[in-house]
Amino acid sequence: MAIQLLDHSPDKSLYEQVADRIQRLIAEGTLQVGDRLPSVRKLHEQWSVSISTVLEAYRLLEDRGLIAARPQSGYYVKQPTLRAPSEPQQSTPPRKAYHVDNSLGFQVICSIRDSQTVKLGAAVPSMELLPIAALNRLTGQILRQHQVSAHEYDVPPGCEPLRHEVARRLMDAGCSITPDEIVTTNGTFESVFLALRAVTQPGDTVAIESPTYYGLLEALEILHLKALELPTHPREGLCLSDLETVLQKRRIAAVALVSNFSNPLGTCMSEPRKKQLVELLAQYEVPLIEDDIYGDLYFEGTRPKALKAFDREGLVIYCSSCSKTLSPGLRVGWSVPGRYQAKVEQLKWVINQTTAIAPQLTVAAFLANGGYDRHLRQLRRAYQSQMLRMTQAICDYFPAETRVTRPNGGHVLWVELPPGFDSLALYQTALQHHVSIAPGVIFSPSGSYNNCFRLNCGLPWSDEIDQAMQTLGELIRQQL
Ligand SMILES: Cc1ncc(COP(=O)(O)O)c(C=O)c1O
Repeated sequence: MAIQLLDHSPDKSLYEQVADRIQRLIAEGTLQVGDRLPSVRKLHEQWSVSISTVLEAYRLLEDRGLIAARPQSGYYVKQPTLRAPSEPQQSTPPRKAYHVDNSLGFQVICSIRDSQTVKLGAAVPSMELLPIAALNRLTGQILRQHQVSAHEYDVPPGCEPLRHEVARRLMDAGCSITPDEIVTTNGTFESVFLALRAVTQPGDTVAIESPTYYGLLEALEILHLKALELPTHPREGLCLSDLETVLQKRRIAAVALVSNFSNPLGTCMSEPRKKQLVELLAQYEVPLIEDDIYGDLYFEGTRPKALKAFDREGLVIYCSSCSKTLSPGLRVGWSVPGRYQAKVEQLKWVINQTTAIAPQLTVAAFLANGGYDRHLRQLRRAYQSQMLRMTQAICDYFPAETRVTRPNGGHVLWVELPPGFDSLALYQTALQHHVSIAPGVIFSPSGSYNNCFRLNCGLPWSDEIDQAMQTLGELIRQQL
């Protein structure tokens, strides 16, 4: 293994630096649970440090619970021994439809612009984990191959090679979709916005998960829609019996949710419950807006099915993009609008005509032969190990009464503190310490969840993040 000790921190002894470097390799997924570490002698030669330094470093990593010695065999990466904090329970939002005012969500997202801040607030992937160089190369090739056509006007449904690749990939999500059924967009957010616009009128009520992705709330707000929060369990997802009761009592224009590894709860509904949800909504002829942006980021087994896979009536509007897996900046997304396709295409045309051709062709080329599956494997491993490190830090630094979700995919964690805790105050004091979090209230139109906040695990583990988590732990203790 050709790894070198690159940085030398004056305030840490050499064996601590060696241990930190190995810890980072574990956090980044280079060394995984069950992997054998280099022998003491080999590391001594490769990193030019003494045998006793390596032994001290390995002992320190044992103390940190990250590695274990096996007699006559060497040192191995261990399953982290988490204190296994409790998970939040099913939410109990007020049974009332709210007009949305979520300007704070926009302020939180703006904190990603401050380069001094450790960005645990916005759900952004780390650029280090994305295949930027390969995408840049492909963009160059595309512009050379399509010197004129990349600059022409296009019309919805958008670029055929991209629709072809998306249709192919959707087979993994259990969907049999033809390229003609897909409309390309400027990201998942636009897909969701177009879907809402296609199936609602101002004043309508949309049923949502609680807590829910704050971007959805922003879209509801500018479309003058009301939001009805439904009880949601971090593992089971939407409470279907509550949804049924609501459907019996009042008119719901649409249900909108994140189907796999939701934001912020990390929920992934089981297949039978997904089927039940789609069938229930079909019974009441209510459109279902499915945001599947995290579907490819599962940690175990195979890709979870999309709700669209169970759609027999064309009522599910599937929305996704490459923002969490390849590039948020290329702004390439897609929609499978089912029976609302003509409306979605017309709205797309009126709102911004089409999506730029070159980014669509770049993403299509990467999906076709850029090693997307290999890239996804690495990305999933990195997110899983970052999430483990973050959970470990919560166990180490946060008070014992903290609850945290345990998602099986995606890259966000939802942290719950005892009732009465003020995460908005934490957000403000943490910003003064150059740490951003996403306070719970921005995920709810009723202003619930001020005792909760969301943490982003999209960034590779570092001393800076470790320090930020310690700071958060101290600030939380000061408030409790
Ligand atoms: C659940 C969810 N949907 C949509 C988006 C926005 O996606 P895009 O950048 O593709 O518009 C995000 C970004 O954080 C998200 O978490």
